[in-house]
Amino acid sequence: MGRQGDFHHLIYPVRDLARAEAFYRDGLGLTTVGRDLWPGEPPTSTLGGPDGYVVLAETDDVVPEPPGIYSHVRFDPPDWQRMHARCRDMGYRVEDALPGELRPQGELKCHLRDPDGHVIEARAFEPQAFEISPAGRGKMDLGPVDAFPVGSVKRVPAGQFYLVRLGDGFLALSEVCTHQHFTVSYQPAHHRFLCPVHSCRYTRTGRLLHCYGGAAGVPPLLGYPIEITGDHIVVDTDRLVARTEESADEPMVQLGSPRLNGTADEVVVSGRGAIGATDSAASSPVGNPRADRRAIPVSDLTLAEEFYQDVLGPALGGYYVISRYPSTTTDLRRGRQAARLLARRGGEDLMGRTMHYVRVVVGRAHLILYLTEDDAPEPAPEQLRGVPRFAISASDEQIEDAMERFRARRIPFEGPVEHPVQCPAARSVYVKDPCGNFLELCRPRSTAA
Ligand code: FES
Repeated sequence: MGRQGDFHHLIYPVRDLARAEAFYRDGLGLTTVGRDLWPGEPPTSTLGGPDGYVVLAETDDVVPEPPGIYSHVRFDPPDWQRMHARCRDMGYRVEDALPGELRPQGELKCHLRDPDGHVIEARAFEPQAFEISPAGRGKMDLGPVDAFPVGSVKRVPAGQFYLVRLGDGFLALSEVCTHQHFTVSYQPAHHRFLCPVHSCRYTRTGRLLHCYGGAAGVPPLLGYPIEITGDHIVVDTDRLVARTEESADEPMVQLGSPRLNGTADEVVVSGRGAIGATDSAASSPVGNPRADRRAIPVSDLTLAEEFYQDVLGPALGGYYVISRYPSTTTDLRRGRQAARLLARRGGEDLMGRTMHYVRVVVGRAHLILYLTEDDAPEPAPEQLRGVPRFAISASDEQIEDAMERFRARRIPFEGPVEHPVQCPAARSVYVKDPCGNFLELCRPRSTAA
């Protein structure tokens, strides 16, 4: 069963239940759970589980989703390959990455539209996506030991590492994040490294402090072997050394008794324990791919962030911003270029490349808030339950806490509603964010109250 704070289910409005079922079951490969398991909803079909469900709700009221609004679904690589082939064979629209688009090697990604126009970003990571190559600039002489005061952290861009001076020695830390290989930067005010992509934070010695969703298993930043020649620091950028959690705080060369730590672990490192690998392997015992990210439209970013940060986040155990895009006119221009390129190829900008958005984590649920300029009609104020909708897993205590916060802020909500035993959730509360997005907090059926 998915963890508290993850998405429990996503509900999509569809015009024809059987047609939509065929896409999610025969195309995406989700397991059928059953029809009409959710009282109080239109006719539904539930698929997936036990780590997350897709619920299709039949209605005539299906509004096309604007660019950028999608659900991200993670597959194991063989499942992704089979899904990709099946969907093409079945004639579903499958858009692969743009030529030249920057992506990690070993990343499999495509976008699909279901028969009602909902967009799925389907992704998988093969083992090579977790390999990190050394900078390959040979041995670099960085100058005398005394040029680096104790506590200093110096970036060496040509070698793609940071030289860290400890009390009794040095570390040369690769600037490549061991999560999914973006670049960390040092934050002197906090004495730590930060990777902005999924918010992994590392200590000054490269040990993981925290990562998006609280996932464990991200190894320490890799190191380059160091030696002291005369009184000079020399770093070998042709070899990478894996470091363990236990040894991460030890210098890689000690002053007074020059020795290299960790040479037995010299590697071309594959990111053992990188989140992508562990999540993927553990995603589901029955092989169902799991939605782990949902993009939603917001007409006012400030209002939306306030709701998720000040109301929902505290009730679900936390909130933080992973990143804000695009932040510059250059980003927007690149986005427009990519959208034009897509259009020339007969595709469309499903990912909202030309829009501002903010990635946040609420509890453990990864949301992308897209600032939309569409004047899509918002639901009537008295309507508190509707589709599309996303549901986050929560304990009874968290649900009570959230309701208290809704009451304190006079935010209308519906519930708690107790579900019958066939329903994958035991109880739910329904609410709308300030931009009219329907959401639900639910206690999964198999979780004790
Ligand atoms: S790539 Fe660095 S946090 Fe995910």
